[in-house]
Amino acid sequence: MEEGAKHVVTGGGPQSGHCRSVSLICRPLGMKPHVVIEGVEKREDLGSMGNTLLYRMAGSKLYLAPQENYESFKRRVRKMKQYVSDTYGEKCYCIPVGGATGKAVFAFISLFDELLQQGLHDRFDDIVVTVATGGTSLGLAVANYLTGSKLGVHAVTIALRKEEIYENMDKLLKELGIDSVKSADILDIIEGYVGERYGTATEEVLSFVTEVSSSTGILLDPYYTGKGTMGMVGELVNNPSRFKGKRILFIHTGGIFGLFNGEMDRVINKEKAVTNDITPWLDENVSPVSIEQ
Ligand SMILES: Cc1ncc(COP(=O)(O)O)c(C=O)c1O
Repeated sequence: MEEGAKHVVTGGGPQSGHCRSVSLICRPLGMKPHVVIEGVEKREDLGSMGNTLLYRMAGSKLYLAPQENYESFKRRVRKMKQYVSDTYGEKCYCIPVGGATGKAVFAFISLFDELLQQGLHDRFDDIVVTVATGGTSLGLAVANYLTGSKLGVHAVTIALRKEEIYENMDKLLKELGIDSVKSADILDIIEGYVGERYGTATEEVLSFVTEVSSSTGILLDPYYTGKGTMGMVGELVNNPSRFKGKRILFIHTGGIFGLFNGEMDRVINKEKAVTNDITPWLDENVSPVSIEQ
């Protein structure tokens, strides 16, 4: 807004929470959103479910791009800024893929500050969060570092390799003027829970998401918080010594719309699944509870 931009460009996968937020928030600010979607090449493969529905409901201009590596996708999104401003003859602002910028880091330093006001240091030993491009977890890790590194900060990667994330984060630290520390010194990245790749879900994660909702009432999505929580639980079982203590705060970062893209159909109707406990009750004089499935 300060730069007088009339268009905003960003990019991510079909279920990116970041792209959905950008798409929707542009409209009340009087800006047109442009979203580059990675890994979908044909219009008919895009669909209109979950976050993709919301990109479309915001009237975003969508550009379909092939699956490529992180660096080339970031370059592609940066290029879009020039194409948009040339075509429309208006200023365009580019939010890098996933919103991993110095500003994002500040947002999550503010979150840490809110947590401190809620007694974070007295109540928890560790924080766990999901990491895609890194702004969220780096903000928390920086804030923890600047307040004496009292907690362990862990991030479960759901997209990139650990090395790629740390490299990106070290650039952000430089941008912020923090050169006393490297990201790997202040943040523990947990690998092994991406599954096939970003934006896909194994049956294991879909069943895990169901297990959590049916036992706690807490909804997770299959691509972000589902994988993140599965990573946290997996490490608590297999590698508990990587945590500082036993009081673990998992920060739920949203992403709920990804639960509504139809992917859950793959497990929801399985025989004996908790999600498939359905009895047709046609005769009210017969107890439906006694009718076998
Ligand atoms: C729901 C949700 N959680 C976590 C993340 C990860 O955030 P970051 O890219 O800052 O690592 C995202 C990114 O889009 C997200 O949509």
